[in-house]
Amino acid sequence: MVWRLMSTLALGALSSSAASSIVAECAAKEAPQRRAIVFGATGATGQQVVKNLLNSKRSSWEVTAVSRRPFFNDTAGLVPLVVDNLGSKSAEVVSVTALLKGNYDAVFVCTGTTRGAAGSADAFVDVEVGLTRQWMRVGADVGVLHTAVVSAQHANKDLWVPSTLLHPLLYLRTLGQKQQAVIEAEFPSCSIFQPGMLNRLQGDRLWENVVNYMGIGLRVDHLARAMIADAEDKLETLNASFSREERDDAGEKVIEFFGGNVNIEVVARRYA
Ligand SMILES: NC(=O)c1ccc[n+]([C@@H]2O[C@H](COP(=O)([O-])OP(=O)(O)OC[C@H]3O[C@@H](n4cnc5c(N)ncnc54)[C@H](OP(=O)(O)O)[C@@H]3O)[C@@H](O)[C@H]2O)c1
Repeated sequence: MVWRLMSTLALGALSSSAASSIVAECAAKEAPQRRAIVFGATGATGQQVVKNLLNSKRSSWEVTAVSRRPFFNDTAGLVPLVVDNLGSKSAEVVSVTALLKGNYDAVFVCTGTTRGAAGSADAFVDVEVGLTRQWMRVGADVGVLHTAVVSAQHANKDLWVPSTLLHPLLYLRTLGQKQQAVIEAEFPSCSIFQPGMLNRLQGDRLWENVVNYMGIGLRVDHLARAMIADAEDKLETLNASFSREERDDAGEKVIEFFGGNVNIEVVARRYA
């Protein structure tokens, strides 16, 4: 409080541009330093998570963007991590962990695929569920406190799927299993985002172009902002209640679901 008053008096003697640059610098210093890992950073949602983390005014994020191909330009705060043959096999996970340094605050799981791109039902499940399990192991190795995952509305791990040929049912069960992988991981906090149709802002899929035209999809930048605003809320509470070393004794784990596009839009408005 005293510091703020003194700064205001001192700034009165400076030119307005010098004053505003000092104010910006002080604001940046006040924002907590946080570290995030984004898996699926090259995807429609992942790209937006990376961009909006770096633009957050509420925290100063260092963002490690994990991908299987070079994608990102040199940007302050961004640490691109390209891992060849990134997949759900344990050897590759070890290589991701070995490339990370120190502790991280949050993991954002934005990996995903379509059955067509994966090539089979089994390969689809392996990307959605297998990779998520691996990301949770990496997160546990680097002391992560909070994790956020993109799932889908009505996802349910217990859904009865009489045949994997019934893709909508397989899809919802698989995304339910993806959620479960996050719930079972040893983090004090996890948030599960369950959007309906997405507007991926990419126009690369025919059906999504129809959805985008009709304006009914949740924009992936809004989804990303909701994930970030919620992560910042959760980390503020976690940091206030216990130190990283104490987290094992910190009591109950917080699991929160954000179901449906309307609810996610509400959280996105908290992004600053
Ligand atoms: N589309 C919708 O309307 C909708 C609605 C609700 C929920 N969702 C769910 O939202 C999630 C994210 O969707 P999105 O559209 O943002 O995803 P996306 O654009 O397809 O991006 C997927 C990301 O996962 C990575 N990935 C895919 N297969 C991989 C593999 N075998 N190994 C390593 N990385 C791999 C991709 O890497 P590359 O760039 O290298 O391929 C990319 O970074 C998905 O789980 C999806 O099911 C989608």
